[in-house]
Amino acid sequence: MNTNKTARIIDGKKIASAVLEELRGEIARMRARNLVPGLAVVLVGNDPASEVYVRSKRKTCADLGVNSFAYDLPANCTEKRLLKLIESLNVDARVHGILVQMPLPKHISEKKILEALSPEKDVDGFHPVNVGRLLNGEECFVSCTPAGCQTLLSRSGIKTAGKHVVIVGRSNIVGKPLAALLMQKSEDANATVTVCHSKTRNMSKYTRDADILVAAMGVPEFIKPAMVREGAVVIDVGVNRIPDPTRKSGNRLVGDVAFAGVFKKVRAITPVPGGVGPMTIAMLMKNTVKAARQVPAKK
Ligand code: GUN
Repeated sequence: MNTNKTARIIDGKKIASAVLEELRGEIARMRARNLVPGLAVVLVGNDPASEVYVRSKRKTCADLGVNSFAYDLPANCTEKRLLKLIESLNVDARVHGILVQMPLPKHISEKKILEALSPEKDVDGFHPVNVGRLLNGEECFVSCTPAGCQTLLSRSGIKTAGKHVVIVGRSNIVGKPLAALLMQKSEDANATVTVCHSKTRNMSKYTRDADILVAAMGVPEFIKPAMVREGAVVIDVGVNRIPDPTRKSGNRLVGDVAFAGVFKKVRAITPVPGGVGPMTIAMLMKNTVKAARQVPAKK
């Protein structure tokens, strides 16, 4: 039954734009001091989704006045060659942040590549040092999608303190770092966090108890209305392309939430596209500016 007529769409595009506009001013001030934030974006192979993401990241850099260094390597690039590139970027003073787009081709160890990054340039927050610091509640680079979810909530006036946040999905990129982030002792966290995953028994028992439900398991429209509590807040991290013969392209993007039905029950929800996605890029820019800011001034 639709008892909730006031569900609000959380506009990720608008919130991301506001973050980027704040950064634009700071970047201009940095450039006036001859400090141009620089981001190296490394793409290996030609995964179509990765190409789209990388293009968008580079475009945002150009728009904000961040130097973007593009490295497009072939799918058969060796692990050794990629490691060499990372070593050179680690010591390149023009480069403040390094992003290696995931996933990498199967013959390259993601773990080895991430561990080769300088933690001070790891604007994706994937290096084990940053992951560990996040868990410990220390200053670090927080990975961009979890940081984007937190910022979406705080800038929408949705408090997390004392709330039950249920995250469905336990990836290293989203589920695990988001759980670590929202359980921290800080004003925009302080949540009680539950992480569900593919082996969770009776998942609805948890999801239906969520004040804030985060769907990040990568299964199209997995979260159905019956799994959501009336009046909950829903954050949809999923980006799935599914066949749709009514579209010219033959497909459409959907999240991990069955939006149309869930929308009718909730207090607020993020759309796909236009929810979490734009926030991820905004947080990447924020981390890049932070990395540049941390460069010690020349004597
Ligand atoms: N692949 C999917 N999400 C991400 C991300 O946030 N950063 C990188 N580097 N790769 C990804």
